[in-house]
Amino acid sequence: MKDAVLKSLKQTRVVSGQALASELGISRTGVWKYVNQLRREGYRISSSPRLGYTLDSVPDSLLAAEIEENLQTRIQGRKIISCREMQSTQDHAKKLAIQGSPEGTIVVAETQSAGRGRLGRSWASPPGGLYFSLILRPGITLAGAAGIPLVAAVALARAIHRYTAVAPRLKWPNDVLIKKRKTAGILVEMSAEMDRLDWVIIGIGVNVAAASVQLPPEIRRTSTSLAIESTRTVQRTQLLGDILYELEEALDMFQTQGFEPLRKQWKEKSHTLGKHVTVVGSRQSIEGKAVDIDSSGALVMECAGGIRQRVTSGDLFFKGGGHG
Ligand code: BTN
Repeated sequence: MKDAVLKSLKQTRVVSGQALASELGISRTGVWKYVNQLRREGYRISSSPRLGYTLDSVPDSLLAAEIEENLQTRIQGRKIISCREMQSTQDHAKKLAIQGSPEGTIVVAETQSAGRGRLGRSWASPPGGLYFSLILRPGITLAGAAGIPLVAAVALARAIHRYTAVAPRLKWPNDVLIKKRKTAGILVEMSAEMDRLDWVIIGIGVNVAAASVQLPPEIRRTSTSLAIESTRTVQRTQLLGDILYELEEALDMFQTQGFEPLRKQWKEKSHTLGKHVTVVGSRQSIEGKAVDIDSSGALVMECAGGIRQRVTSGDLFFKGGGHG
């Protein structure tokens, strides 16, 4: 009922308590109760005894109703679990995926107390950022899924570009950089049975509002946020809508046309190829020039003696430090 009150307030600029009450079949006290609930969620609603209620502004909170309004997708984001605080949206999404939650479910939180990054790192998640995990159930094999992290990176970079007009660059496999500093990260986890994928979870963290001092000291030199890099004020629900739209487009393309067109897009946005890098893996470090992305998303490196090596995972460092 609260959502119905909100919908009416959004449709009509000013609406009387009596008109709202009759439209929704509740008492005027009921309307007042829902209006107050909305005010507590951050909606600014003024009331005048003569005219009634006016919706003055909507909060930049990741409320399900606001996210829904910004969706332009068929599937992605069509089921929303939104919380003020969570340990990790990734862990919550994983539980939901195991319980059978459908493709397109998103779990989103204002802050995370135990946000996770790639390679066992933690992901700082102060308020004002965008942290969400998306459940996918793509009908592809485990081997075919290797390109998904790069596909997600292309989609995320496209959405940030569309929304802020700033064009991010990509660091292999899936870091999103603006002016050589990390702005967003992607964590892809999956489960398969007999080589058939059961679920894939794409977890995305975007530094949106953080000022430099709000970023943890250890990443301050190498990270940035949309607030620092773009002049556009970001409404996170709109940005989330754009990210889900680009993800849906890119994933559709991946499933119908394969990795090739997305590999091309990744390479166009690359801040990796042509650079001297070291990739630190769990068993060995490889040093050389990053020369290509192969048909499965692996990084191709040219090492000493001109020997080419394929690297499928690891932490990439640019020669000279920072993000190249
Ligand atoms: C990385 O660059 O290391 C990946 C960072 C991924 C962070 C996101 S925030 C939403 C989701 N929940 C998590 O705990 N992690 C991912």
